[in-house]
Amino acid sequence: MTINNSLLSQILLLELFLFASIPDLAVSSALEVAPRELFKQAGLLGPTFGSQKCVFVLATGRSGSTALMDALNQIPNYLIRGEHWSAFWNLYSAYLRLKEVKFGPGQELFEWPKHANDGASEIKQAYERHAPITRLPLFSEIMDDRIMLATRMYYSVLYGHYGEGTVSGFKEIRYVCGTYFGHRATCTENFHAFTRFLRGLCGEVKMIFNTRYTPSLEQNAKLFYMDNTTVGRTANTFQDELVQTHALFDEYTKNNPDHAFRVYLRDMYDPKRNWTLAQNLLQFLGEKQNIPIRFNRMPGWQPGR
Ligand SMILES: *[C@@H]1O[C@H](CO)[C@@H](O)[C@H](O)[C@H]1NC(C)=O
Ligand SMILES: *[C@@H]1O[C@H](CO)[C@@H](O)[C@H](O)[C@H]1NC(C)=O
Repeated sequence: MTINNSLLSQILLLELFLFASIPDLAVSSALEVAPRELFKQAGLLGPTFGSQKCVFVLATGRSGSTALMDALNQIPNYLIRGEHWSAFWNLYSAYLRLKEVKFGPGQELFEWPKHANDGASEIKQAYERHAPITRLPLFSEIMDDRIMLATRMYYSVLYGHYGEGTVSGFKEIRYVCGTYFGHRATCTENFHAFTRFLRGLCGEVKMIFNTRYTPSLEQNAKLFYMDNTTVGRTANTFQDELVQTHALFDEYTKNNPDHAFRVYLRDMYDPKRNWTLAQNLLQFLGEKQNIPIRFNRMPGWQPGR
C-alpha cells in the first residue's frame, strides 16, 4: 500500500505551516498507511481540525460593514478581512457537489465507506473490477470527511493560518436575498444551508448580521442606487428581497443568541447608542469589555449618510 508522495508532502507542509502542535508523523511508517489513517494521525480529521475561532459578518451593502470590520480589527488578536466577491459561494458549491457525487449513477457498485482506510492500490482494484463492465463517469472515492477537511484547509490556509490566538474572519455583502442566495423560498433555504456551512469551517464560529435599521427603500437608497446600476432589480423586488434578508437575519439572531449578533448602522454612529453597542459586541464575542473599539475611526462615513 502506498500513498501519493505529493499528498504526503502537502500534509507535512501544512503541518509545519498551520499546526505546530500536531503530533510528529514518522515518515517511514506514514508511507505504509492509507490517507485517512494519515489524516487521523496528523489530527486533521474530525471537528477539531482547522481554525479555532472565526467571525463572519454578513451584511447588506451600504450598512457600515467596513466600519464594523474596522471596529473588530481594533481588537488586538482579530484579523477580519473584507469582501471576497462571494468566493465562498463557489467553495460551498464545490463542497455540495463533491458530496452529491457519491449518490451518482454507478457509485452504488462500490460501497465506498468500506474503502475508507484503503490506499490507492485497493481503490484501483475496486475500479478494475467494474470498469471493464460498466461505464463509470462518476467514479470517485472521496467521502464527506475529506471534503470537509479540504474545505476547512482552504479556509485555514487563506484566512486562518496565523494560528492559535488569532481570530480570523471576513465580511461579505453578497450573501443576501436577490443575489447569491436567490429568491424567496430558495433564499431562505440557501441562507440556512450556507450559515450552517460557515459554522462548520472553524472550531467556534460567531456570526454578525449587519444592516440598516429598517429595510425601507428610503433608508437603503444608496444600496438601491448601486443595485440599479448593477443588478437592476425593480424597486419592489429590491425592497421585498431586502425585507426578507432582514427577516432572516433577525430570526436567526433571535434563535441563536449564543453565536449570532445583530448590528444596525444607526447604532454605530449614534453617540447615545454606540458605546452600548461596543460593549455588547465585545461581550458577545467573549472579549474583555474594556477593549477600546470605535466605529467611527475610518474616513468616509458621517452620521446619517
Ligand atoms: C434606475 O435608475 C434610473 C436612472 O436613475 C431610473 O430611470 C430607473 O427607473 C431606475 N430603475 C428602477 C428599477 O427604479
Ligand atoms: C460614538 O459616536 C461618537 C460621536 O460620533 C464618537 O465620538 C465616539 O467615538 C463613538 N463611539 C464608538 C464606540 O464608536
